[in-house]
Amino acid sequence: MVKLLSDAIASVITAFDHTMDTVLDFQTEEYQCLPAGLTLIEGIGRQLVGKVPTPVIVEADTAAQRDIDTASALMRGMGLDEGDMIENPCIFDPTFAGEGCGFCEELDVGSQKAAVEERWNSFPMSEKVVDLIDEFQARLGVGEAPPFGEIEDNVDSGSGYYSGGTSVASQIIEYILMEMGGNTTSWGWGQFSRDDVYRFLEAHIYYREVQDRALPLNLRSHSYMSSEILATLGSGVEGTRVLVGHDSELDALASIFGLEWSTPPFPRNATTPGSGIRFDVNGEGEVSVSLHYQAFDGTDDVLFADAAFTWSGGREAVGIEELKEYLGGKLSDECMP
Ligand SMILES: *[C@@H]1O[C@H](CO)[C@@H](O)[C@H](O)[C@H]1NC(C)=O
Ligand SMILES: *[C@@H]1O[C@H](CO)[C@@H](O)[C@H](O)[C@H]1NC(C)=O
Repeated sequence: MVKLLSDAIASVITAFDHTMDTVLDFQTEEYQCLPAGLTLIEGIGRQLVGKVPTPVIVEADTAAQRDIDTASALMRGMGLDEGDMIENPCIFDPTFAGEGCGFCEELDVGSQKAAVEERWNSFPMSEKVVDLIDEFQARLGVGEAPPFGEIEDNVDSGSGYYSGGTSVASQIIEYILMEMGGNTTSWGWGQFSRDDVYRFLEAHIYYREVQDRALPLNLRSHSYMSSEILATLGSGVEGTRVLVGHDSELDALASIFGLEWSTPPFPRNATTPGSGIRFDVNGEGEVSVSLHYQAFDGTDDVLFADAAFTWSGGREAVGIEELKEYLGGKLSDECMP
């Protein structure tokens, strides 16, 4: 029996970047949701009714308007009163200085750079991704800028971010995914089929796996959320706790809880707009994790996939005590209230 769940819905389809505005016109304000993205989220809400234990509580990263809009759309779909949305920006970013958060400071840029570099070294790019980026470049054609493969990858000392050709390719692929999810009739300058977009997404996922899954950074930003998830699962209270945040939530939780997944038609470990990660505990105290997502195929159908715990031989359910033991020494209580 499913008893509880905590669910982070990734950032919805957002029009994301400054530099691309001249190239791709999302006809919406920067960093805000596309209208079709919100329609899709409402569809998720509708389809989750009856599939999640009640009562349902929705908490959002109210520091970002796109998360408020996402949570509202979800609540509308679920038939909940939007006025009942709980403002909880601190659980998404305990280093955020406003709204009574700021339980710890962000790591300095040097430490961030070292963590991302370490992650990059231990998770090198596969030949397959190298080839994909080359193919993506070939499909885009030759422009004034050098090809992605000739812009050297590095971890930037000013920002601590994984930068260079892979980063640029990753961002452009993400915009094209957003265009497709945004229900436009033509995406990526009309040059890419849906299957192309699914396939090229692997390069974007690789970028995120380096930049957004460096464990020391994840523990700093998401120990608090992880311990709240454990506490919610262990509370014995029936119901559903929904956290509406960003794709970085899914990456951080995958990193901390040691999870992998496959959400076809997307490549492995995708954290696509509107998708959510769900933690359930059953009456025997076994925890299982699943993803729900949409394929941006013109329908709003919600798809489900089980995640596996990599550290337990790929099992799809582990005991809550076992999970607590796995996380026990890792979580940093420095970044909790
Ligand atoms: C996408 O566009 C189609 C055709 O115009 C329309 O029927 C559908 O409702 C749209 N979906 C969303 C999520 O806006
Ligand atoms: C998916 O994530 C798991 C866990 O981090 C990792 O072991 C695996 O290599 C990843 N797969 C791909 C294709 O990136």
